[in-house]
Amino acid sequence: MISKRNAKAVSAALLMMGTFAAFSQEIPSLKNTFKNDFGIGTALNNGQIEERDPKMTEMIVRQFNRATPENVMKSALIHPKWDTYDFVVPDKLIEFGKKHNIKINGHTLIWHSQLPSFIRGIHSKDSIQTFFTNHIQTVAGRYKDNIFSWDVVNEALNEDGTLRKTVFLDYLGEGYLAEAFRLTQQAAPNVELYYNDYNNEQPAKRAGCISLIKKIQASGARIDGVGIQGHWHVGKVPLKDIEESILQYAALGLKVMFTELDIEVLPRNFQGADVNQRVASNPDLNPYTAGLPDNVQQQLAADYEALFKLFLKHKDKVTRVTFWGVNDGNSWLNGWPVRGRTNYPLLFDRENQPKPAFYKVIALKK
Ligand code: XIL
Repeated sequence: MISKRNAKAVSAALLMMGTFAAFSQEIPSLKNTFKNDFGIGTALNNGQIEERDPKMTEMIVRQFNRATPENVMKSALIHPKWDTYDFVVPDKLIEFGKKHNIKINGHTLIWHSQLPSFIRGIHSKDSIQTFFTNHIQTVAGRYKDNIFSWDVVNEALNEDGTLRKTVFLDYLGEGYLAEAFRLTQQAAPNVELYYNDYNNEQPAKRAGCISLIKKIQASGARIDGVGIQGHWHVGKVPLKDIEESILQYAALGLKVMFTELDIEVLPRNFQGADVNQRVASNPDLNPYTAGLPDNVQQQLAADYEALFKLFLKHKDKVTRVTFWGVNDGNSWLNGWPVRGRTNYPLLFDRENQPKPAFYKVIALKK
């Protein structure tokens, strides 16, 4: 006879086993589902790189075969002082990739945001040039044999397609773009080299991106791919512009990647993903703290379905699709552009459970 108490324990154990079985067997894997189509990536934060939560690690390894560090390879973190680099967590990321068979995309060498604070004290062309050269040679050189690719330059364009005014453009002139690719190629000859931006599927910015790429190519430097970040909004994913962009970028001989995919469900009054842009918090901007309404959930699912349908149609040109975060709880969109919101932009919920959008995406391959 099983006592009442034991029966409770047994049923709890069965429930746990059931949950475990559902988790490890029944939930399909994105990376396996799309293994003949393109790589499936995620951004990783420090806790994930350091494997602080074994369940999270299991989930990452099961779902993804590509990863991009969300922050730890940005210059402010990897190069905090003029002569000081911090490779501790970046090295762990490389180990994580080796151990779990995940290819690492370095993010990013030359970007105007998240720069080390000492840059603000530099006011000469020579010193900026020295920082620029040393940074690329040291960071790209360190990982030359164990990183798959680099976002060599990130976000160099304005919305109208002109070059963004940055410390690099100001001091070095527009030649800094080709120079960044040339230096990275020299430091890491076997690594793929990409240009990465947001909104570069929009016609004006896309035209600027194409001319930037052509100039890099004309300089003789190598560029292998272009990343479209893909920070979009529910019900407003610009599918036509995305398709046109895949075709036009591929026509330049480049691989096309979606590098920071998320679909925001909360309101805001501007487009894009400039990390320096902020909006004051206000309860009207945070409507779904108690859960996502079903109609929005269904729209999100339909948007992801349409996007992946398009990616599959052009799988000969699209080499990777990377989500900017593993689950809704990790997403940067809970903190940007408004602090402290509850956002739902990814395929997995805060408990790492698949959302309707996940099943729509998987069903495209059935
Ligand atoms: C974001 C990170 O997700 C945040 O944690 C950080 O505070 C700011 O940067 N475009 C990029 C990414 O290229 O590096 C940005 O990542 C999001 C926009």
